[in-house]
Amino acid sequence: MRYLAVLGRQPEISIAELELSGFCTDIDRLGGTQKLAVELKQKPLEYLQSLPEGKITLGVSDYSGRASRKTATMEALKLKKILVRHGRSVRVVENKEAVLSTATSLHNGLSGKNGRKVELIKVDDAWFRVIGVQNIDAYARRDQARPARDAKVGMLPPKLAQILINLCGILPEGSRILDPFCGTGVVLQEALLMGYCAYGTDINERMIEYSKRNLEWLMKSEIIQTEGIRSLARRGRAPAARGDRPLGRGRPSVDGPAGRGPKVDNFQISIGDATSFKWSQSIDAVACEGYLGKPFSKIPSEVELKEQKQECGNIILGFLKNLSTQIKKNMPVTIAIPAWLREDGEYERLDLLDQISDLGYNVNNKSREGLLYHREDQVVARDILILRKK
Ligand SMILES: C[S@@+](CC[C@H](N)C(=O)[O-])C[C@H]1O[C@@H](n2cnc3c(N)ncnc32)[C@H](O)[C@@H]1O
Repeated sequence: MRYLAVLGRQPEISIAELELSGFCTDIDRLGGTQKLAVELKQKPLEYLQSLPEGKITLGVSDYSGRASRKTATMEALKLKKILVRHGRSVRVVENKEAVLSTATSLHNGLSGKNGRKVELIKVDDAWFRVIGVQNIDAYARRDQARPARDAKVGMLPPKLAQILINLCGILPEGSRILDPFCGTGVVLQEALLMGYCAYGTDINERMIEYSKRNLEWLMKSEIIQTEGIRSLARRGRAPAARGDRPLGRGRPSVDGPAGRGPKVDNFQISIGDATSFKWSQSIDAVACEGYLGKPFSKIPSEVELKEQKQECGNIILGFLKNLSTQIKKNMPVTIAIPAWLREDGEYERLDLLDQISDLGYNVNNKSREGLLYHREDQVVARDILILRKK
């Protein structure tokens, strides 16, 4: 079976993600993949003719080198004409470009879940049918509906949090994911939705409160039921937690909401400095967005850049040093670290790989190509490191 992953602006992230996650075909789990398709075994017309009776909704995206809106539309109309001649009723989804946008595919129900609503993808002479479309509405909901948000600590998009978790590789359900810079808890949220246990620590007490509020909200919201992919809560399973010590308030930091809803003690949140904290819970993987330094709306000066590199580098190395004595051999650690836009349009990265290696980690994807995640012109980009404890 030949699969096609339609990727966004950072295709390499998704390729690494697909590979390292054992080529998972669950689009709701693959944060970086916009569409997932499988190659057709027959000609597109034969495939369409084999669809169950009733009106067909057809979308065609043409990803071939010289494709245009016109070529895609022509392919769709050609197929429609023959189908109509054979007595089938067909609606063609209008192309605004050679390829249908994710929103168009999603909102026309072309996500491969409805037998007669299909999107076909053409790449030169090969044809694929879409089996999954990124649910951009669900991602927006998970991001924007959270009660405690803070623009200053950066807004980690939920799909990037999924990518960070996926880059840890295949983990058994219920594995405990640590985010030692948990902030408002996006990685923790996505870990829970993926069926893992979440363990968050952060140096800032306000962030700890935010993470707690957000996870309590998540567990009570319908999102955990509807978007909890292999959710522990949905399966009524909740691993026993061995609580950390309290947050200075005499109550355990094992803070799943009590009372209504599924019993959830599958997340723990504690205050702690990542450069010195002793994590008391067992850890199976670490996925985090580390400290990214000051937010910048314009390119930092040389002096500012030097300061930021120093400050962020110290925290990241301090954290990795502290962590390395507390985790087992081979444990995956993925961390997004900052990189800063320069006047020449390139990003200035932190050059830490040798020191990270000396601290006892193997660096996967040493060339780090494609693992820079940013919007166009974003000053602070996220540079993803994929590590494993030696
Ligand atoms: C970029 S934010 C992470 C945001 C997070 N991904 C979220 O979902 O909101 C970095 C976080 O690192 C925390 N931080 C900074 N230095 C730290 C340290 N030494 N130990 C632990 N946390 C630290 C900050 O308080 C902040 O919440």
